[in-house]
Amino acid sequence: MTMTQSVQQKDSSTASYTCFCRACAYREEDDRFRGADNMAAIFLPEGAKGVLGVPSQRKLIIKERIPLGIYEYFMARTELLDSVFLDALKNKFDQIVLLGAGYDTRALRFHGHNQGTKIFELDITPTQQLKLDIIDREQIALPKELIFIPIDFNRQSLPEVLSAVGYEKNQKNLFLWEGVTMYLTQEAVDNPCRR
Ligand SMILES: C[S@@+](CC[C@H](N)C(=O)[O-])C[C@H]1O[C@@H](n2cnc3c(N)ncnc32)[C@H](O)[C@@H]1O
Repeated sequence: MTMTQSVQQKDSSTASYTCFCRACAYREEDDRFRGADNMAAIFLPEGAKGVLGVPSQRKLIIKERIPLGIYEYFMARTELLDSVFLDALKNKFDQIVLLGAGYDTRALRFHGHNQGTKIFELDITPTQQLKLDIIDREQIALPKELIFIPIDFNRQSLPEVLSAVGYEKNQKNLFLWEGVTMYLTQEAVDNPCRR
């Protein structure tokens, strides 16, 4: 099985991995290092959720299973992009596009600041469907501005997929492509607008 096929057929383990780190960061005892993602935990498998409540186990996993510096890098990245996302909402951007959104919770967490910005979440079908199933199971209300679009960046043209769901170019738009490009072909990264 090729890497592209395996990505398509299964929900993303790397999305769970970053989500786990955000859920751990939310539980940091030292408030200087505490992350803001209070929703990450709901998207984790039961086993991972169990570990979250035990500080010694969280620390052990971060130390032994996550390469040195990666947890801290994820936390810095989340905090920075949280502020970029929030600024876009406060400045009434027309649209925000999350490319390879995984278990990104910004559209839900910052919903109270949204004054009409449309948010498009793009990801492969299995990851996106699992996220939607969990949102449904947890009875979380989906903001009306939030639109989920399945895509395979390796095979599909980004402008074509976006225009089919009402995305308008030439507006005030923010694109976030967080932790995704390393899983794609070079062609998909260099030229996402190809046909
Ligand atoms: C490391 S996760 C990052 C998720 C999220 N942006 C974050 O930072 O937590 C990589 C994401 O890219 C998505 N992805 C990987 N290959 C893809 C492809 N060919 N087309 C669309 N999405 C893809 C995965 O499903 C996953 O959600």
